[in-house]
Amino acid sequence: MGEYHINGGKKLSGEIRVGGSKNAVLPQLAATILNGDISVLHDVPRISDVFVSIEILQALGAEVKLEGNTLTVNTKNISNASVPDYLMREMRSSVLFMGSLLGRFGECTLSRPGGCELGLRPIDLHINSLRKMNAAIDDEGIIECKAKKLKGAKINLDFPSVGATENIMLAASLADGTTIMSNAAKEPEIIDLQIFLNKMGAKVYGAGTDTITIEGKSRLNRAEHSVMSDRIIAGTYLVAAAITGGEIFLTNAVNEDICPITNKLKDAGCTIKTYGSKVHLKAPSRIKPIPLMRTHPHPGFPTDAQPQFMSLLSVADGTSIVVETVFESRNKHISELRRLGADIFLAKDGMTSLINGVPSLTGAVVSAKDLRGGVALITAGLIAEGNTVVENSNYVERGYECIEDELKSLGADIKLVS
Ligand code: EPZ
Repeated sequence: MGEYHINGGKKLSGEIRVGGSKNAVLPQLAATILNGDISVLHDVPRISDVFVSIEILQALGAEVKLEGNTLTVNTKNISNASVPDYLMREMRSSVLFMGSLLGRFGECTLSRPGGCELGLRPIDLHINSLRKMNAAIDDEGIIECKAKKLKGAKINLDFPSVGATENIMLAASLADGTTIMSNAAKEPEIIDLQIFLNKMGAKVYGAGTDTITIEGKSRLNRAEHSVMSDRIIAGTYLVAAAITGGEIFLTNAVNEDICPITNKLKDAGCTIKTYGSKVHLKAPSRIKPIPLMRTHPHPGFPTDAQPQFMSLLSVADGTSIVVETVFESRNKHISELRRLGADIFLAKDGMTSLINGVPSLTGAVVSAKDLRGGVALITAGLIAEGNTVVENSNYVERGYECIEDELKSLGADIKLVS
């Protein structure tokens, strides 16, 4: 557990490459169980959630090698379908092993997943959907799943849950028959999972729309894939440049994936130009407020970019309102931003924030309480006068590979002190 020490006030400038996506690679790591063979993934971010997924695969009996950002896994010799509790509790995406283990073995034992505390984060949509596919699931405490053979089913999700959509895609890929899922999540990471599964020989189509069809296969084969670019990290760098009044180029960005974020940055006064997978941002002299913005499942404004954007709006030239609609408790960064001098009021519903922009923030010691909230505090520290210390770097390291080095390469005065 370390802390980031930031000396604020430096404008960011230069060029930076966006790496592979955490929220794309995590379901793909679970998917490697399905083919009982070798899978090779490129552009894998070296982050703690990936390291935990590797530990889960190894605990199940898989052979895993991570060299640089290339991961090779052989799941041929997986000997058990029980995920250790201490690993389940490390992150939310451990729940995705339920779908792939059920798909391959017809059984699995696991506990409830951990992950950033953004609210209750139940898994009822996952469990109810798998039950519709003929899985018998006892979810009192430890979750015991059994299914002689999963059967294709018609499933309508009450909410376009990213994880539930992914779990169903994983389980249905080896089920008997066809699964048609409606009200599915449409995030770009769902499309990337479809691409990887189809490279294995699965028959998945419709990802990116609200109806996904999966024709179950009896077995899948080895596959190689390059993980899509991380749209939230792309947005993080753009917001960091915007808050410091800087000018940066991103490479390996996917404009279509990040346009919900770049559209809002334009509303905040930034000039943004795209050239293929290159994105150029030039910040205004003062950030404009945004009268009302809401987070929403894709293609709405992503909840994972909300905390960073709140830091940006805290120094805007006026008042903004931000409504977090996806998670009921994703505002723990507000109390910490207020320690830096931000004037933010959180309504009693815990989801609606009123942000009165202030001319400047002042450095202080603050604590990260979840992944994106921690990055929001680093973002604010880049502009705060004097020194800011952001504690609990472990949260940030779950999703960012050496963010301090990346920001330093753009001119920030930041270091990680273990
Ligand atoms: C994924 O989480 C991402 N994590 C999250 O990113 C992201 O914020 C979220 O999708 C929304 O885009 C990964 O991909 C590893 P959900 P997930 O299921 O799958 C409720 C980050 O910072 N819900 O779409 O857990 C849930 O409580 C992380 O990278 C149920 O009620 O998100 C929440 O309110 C944070 N029952 C809403 O749906 C269920 O069975 C959205 O959750 C499942 C979800």
